[in-house]
Amino acid sequence: MENKKFYITTPIYYVNAKPHIGHAYTTIAADVLARFYRQQLGKENVFFLTGTDEHGAKIQKKAEEAGKSPQEFVDEISSEFKKLWAKDKLNIEYDNFIRTTDGTHIKAVQRVLQTLKDKGAIYKGEYEGLYCVGCEQFKNEDDLVNGKCPDHGTAPDLMKEESYMLKMTEIQAELLEKIEKEEFKVTPEKYKNKIVSFLKNQTLHDVSISRKNVSWGIPLPFDESHTTYVWVDAFLNYLTGLGWDGDENNLPEMWPVDINLIGKDILRVHATIWPAILIHLGIKLPKIIFTHGHILSDGKKMSKTLGNTISIDEMLEKFGTDGTRYLLLSAGPFGEDIDVTMERMVEKYNADLANGLGNLISRVIKLAEGYEFENKNEYDPLIWNKGFIEAFWMDKALERISDHLIRKSNKYITDNKPWELKKTDEAKFKEVMQKLISDLYLVSELFIPFMPETSEKIKKALETKKLDEVLFQRIK
Ligand code: ME8
Ligand code: MG
Repeated sequence: MENKKFYITTPIYYVNAKPHIGHAYTTIAADVLARFYRQQLGKENVFFLTGTDEHGAKIQKKAEEAGKSPQEFVDEISSEFKKLWAKDKLNIEYDNFIRTTDGTHIKAVQRVLQTLKDKGAIYKGEYEGLYCVGCEQFKNEDDLVNGKCPDHGTAPDLMKEESYMLKMTEIQAELLEKIEKEEFKVTPEKYKNKIVSFLKNQTLHDVSISRKNVSWGIPLPFDESHTTYVWVDAFLNYLTGLGWDGDENNLPEMWPVDINLIGKDILRVHATIWPAILIHLGIKLPKIIFTHGHILSDGKKMSKTLGNTISIDEMLEKFGTDGTRYLLLSAGPFGEDIDVTMERMVEKYNADLANGLGNLISRVIKLAEGYEFENKNEYDPLIWNKGFIEAFWMDKALERISDHLIRKSNKYITDNKPWELKKTDEAKFKEVMQKLISDLYLVSELFIPFMPETSEKIKKALETKKLDEVLFQRIK
């Protein structure tokens, strides 16, 4: 990517419930990418946006059930997300946290709706179809399994009401071309193919973008008896999160998005309604939509009823900030569905972090006491990580650091026995130690985007020849 700037987003998460490990997964991945590009392009040329999606029927209903006003309810849950991203939890270094209930966002959304209406992209019609409130999405018959939404296990509602519609059929050919030519890159490849075949085989129906019976939403400026469909409101966060006021002729410098990072549950809307809005407005599309898979537990979708959920708080308690970041990202190929169990994570933690990295550092620091060594590493850590990061292979990047540096260094120590050399052959001892120290400097650099605190601790230990604490205490 020959970019001079880098703008990355996560989905904005619904505040109907507290954040869970799926939300953490996407956000950690985005944070790693943002941190890497900050190293490469400089802090001021990177923008990382996350936030919360706070309107719509689902949230309104949850607030009612909790006996709270919607505003009170969304304030509470939104702050739970912020707390989880804080430095003492997952250490997510975002540049802005947007909330769709922010006044400036609401104003910009209304301005866009008016523009779309004035351009003739929105018209008044009637919508009839199936709607899943859990997804806040319309469903076709062939999206359902036994008549139910596969993600929520509930039958969608039949909706029939007066509604404002956004023209989709009209932009279909242009959208398909942009995706095929990768001007608007949907990736990984299998997801591109899915969307391309969808766009080739079906006519995109114009989509309902307003609701008469959902009061918890942004009123249409040209008809206040309707509120806007929550997805239209939500997509615009990717622009308003940069401070945009809704004027399509005056876009923020960071635009277009370099990467909209999402999970596969929300790919279809991101590859249809989102670009449609931008095409109607005459605004450039995001460069890349990257879709990752879902986290499963023991082969099944995590769910409270199955009792197979792993809580992110439990992970943080057991593995700490960097341990949690490491384990989630290395749980499986980024892009595929991945299966996690607590048992396997404990095993991996002990193998890679406690016995691997932690043990290596403490051995090397102990042996180095009283001697002077420099950082003679000659690899450029940015070049080393670049290939992996650009391919979104975060799991492979970690695997390679573990294999090529940590396991190898531990073996190098066992093979060369520097504690014996210290007494028998000091020159050789210094040579062996110098190599270990240089490799560890490289490890500390390579981990900067993935485990920022650990990376600093390693560097400090190398410089001071002292380890203030055991890194990654073994879990029994
Ligand atoms: O869809 N595994 O919000 P949402 C991996 N507000 N990632 C997961 C996951 C899992 N099991 N579960 C959730 C919405 N995610 C909308 C988005 S954007 C303009 C509006 C992650 O709270 C993944 O990134 O349901 C998924 O796409 C997102 O959370 C959905 O979050
Ligand atoms: Mg969801």
